Amino acid sequence: MKSLSDLPEIDFGAADYLAAPLPVLAGYSARFKLGRSKRGIEIFDYDLCRDAILSRSFGTGHPKLMNVLGLPEGPALNYKRNSISFHNRGETRRRLRVPLTTLMGPEGSERFRTDIKHVVNLTFAEIPKNRPVDLIEALCDRIPSRVYCYWINAPMADAEFVSRTSHIVQQVHTRNPETTKDVTEGFERLLDYVDTRVEAARQNPGDDLLSDLIRATDAGHLSEDELRNWVVKLAEANTDNSSHQIAIAVIELASRPEIWAALGQDTSLVSQALREVMRYHPRSLSTSRETLEDVELDGVHIPQGEAIFPNIGAAHWNPNYFPNPETFDIYRPDKPTHLNFGGGIFSCIGRFAVTIEIEEVIAYMVTHFPDLKITKSSFAHSPMFTSVSELEGILDA
Ligand code: HEM
Repeated sequence: MKSLSDLPEIDFGAADYLAAPLPVLAGYSARFKLGRSKRGIEIFDYDLCRDAILSRSFGTGHPKLMNVLGLPEGPALNYKRNSISFHNRGETRRRLRVPLTTLMGPEGSERFRTDIKHVVNLTFAEIPKNRPVDLIEALCDRIPSRVYCYWINAPMADAEFVSRTSHIVQQVHTRNPETTKDVTEGFERLLDYVDTRVEAARQNPGDDLLSDLIRATDAGHLSEDELRNWVVKLAEANTDNSSHQIAIAVIELASRPEIWAALGQDTSLVSQALREVMRYHPRSLSTSRETLEDVELDGVHIPQGEAIFPNIGAAHWNPNYFPNPETFDIYRPDKPTHLNFGGGIFSCIGRFAVTIEIEEVIAYMVTHFPDLKITKSSFAHSPMFTSVSELEGILDA
């Protein structure tokens, strides 16, 4: 049996990775099923990634992450310890997810479409036309944070706080202890904010997600603390990820004029085009797990307690599963499915809602702005995420 030291080593700080991470990952995945990096074991093979994401032998990687960051004792760490991310496989995790997977499942999320369309219409109405605009600030951040305001029945003006704070707290995934202070304070502000929103919704319940979660709490499905943790979690996980994925979709689609025009002529193609965006350039370049017991992967013995990273970028560019992975092809078959939202009992709670958000943004843009020009754009890639650092464009009137 091979041991961990036999695995090829990947350096996420290497110039070739930083310049073109997905082709580099494609090269690894064509040759190796597993690798090693500073953070732990990397899985490059699509099937092995999927298995690790779903398998009972792998649990949450979040507690290790908190140790790396050294979050101090206090409200932020307390929230983290009790939030869904820290709960391993088992009854509590299952029970905690039920109200959310019901309210935010495919049908539950369809209920948000009308509000999402309002947010999209309002946001584009406000963006100046025929001159360069920072689309991260004016579009990508605003859509998910405004949708969150609908979910919790908050004034639209709160969206700026929601998106700013989400960007701050999501820095936990940088694994950089220099971010610990900002992250801690960000969580503290978010916890206070959520407390005031829960209080307001209790006084004035409505037909919104927060009021539904309060009703689930009153029916005994969640405790008060669990309710609060979920509402914070939805803010934490929402804007940052969604904003970057919206920006990625705009760049990848608008920079291919023939595809932009095809989508404008037939918006029913938008959903499959987004699937290909999330395969070709996923926001999630990996997710994390920890081995719950000794396991054998591809003939390699991996001891219990090892940090494991299903490398989604490598799996999506694995030529054994996605022929010519460097070709952006919106007509690819829908299987194998992309892994941008993870899977199983850890899968992304917001995946149906955010997919609707991005569909509505792109459908609006291809029909209203056939001559959209991207004037500046750039990406940054960490081992965990694709981020859009700059996106400027001119919307044609
Ligand atoms: C395009 C945007 C998004 C991407 C790429 C994304 C991706 C992910 C990924 C990869 C995971 C981990 C899954 C796993 O390890 O199996 C996750 C978890 C999660 N996501 Fe998302 N997400 C996005 C948007 C959202 C939104 C909009 C929400 C909430 C409204 C959300 C809520 C969550 C929650 C609560 C979890 C933790 C689930 C658990 O531990 O049970 N995400 N997401």
